[in-house]
Amino acid sequence: MPSHNPLVAVYPGSFDPITNGHLDLIQRCAPLVDKLVVSVLRNAHKHPLFTLEERVAMLRSVASPFPNVEVDCFDGLLVDYARQKQAKLLLRGIRAISDYEYELQMALMNRRLAPEIETMFMMAGEAYSFISSKLVKEVIGLGGNISGLVPPSVEEKLKQRFLGRE
Ligand code: PNS
Repeated sequence: MPSHNPLVAVYPGSFDPITNGHLDLIQRCAPLVDKLVVSVLRNAHKHPLFTLEERVAMLRSVASPFPNVEVDCFDGLLVDYARQKQAKLLLRGIRAISDYEYELQMALMNRRLAPEIETMFMMAGEAYSFISSKLVKEVIGLGGNISGLVPPSVEEKLKQRFLGRE
């Protein structure tokens, strides 16, 4: 049987919180690689709604059906982290053309820093292409319905946070 190095992909992001768009990407990428590491940026500059620990816990619970998905966090340069994880791929999702410019800049910078690592883009499923963590927080904060936009466990956490509901 031919042996090969396991193909590891890192899917980095803020995940504040994970949406059904992120989950769709995880679901579609996991079967293509040996291991998918979903990793939350520990970002001191942003003011996230959920702590790093909360975001990791939500991701772990949502990713638990996928045996080859690991949830982790990182700081510093993404490419340094990817090298530590022996990852050859960085996974990012693209929803619309508006995502493209920022993603292109990051992909080219990362390629310059680590030419051996490829960025792989997957198109968000069309049902999810309008969803972002930012808009989900805005909608629930203003009393709108977010069901179907995030996994049910995440919806509960958001309701607790915004509406003080169990
Ligand atoms: O979900 P986000 O906030 O769009 O994710 C952005 C993320 C985490 C992918 C990006 O900010 C990142 O990779 N940060 C790590 C720092 C780094 O490596 N910067 C240089 C790469 S361009």
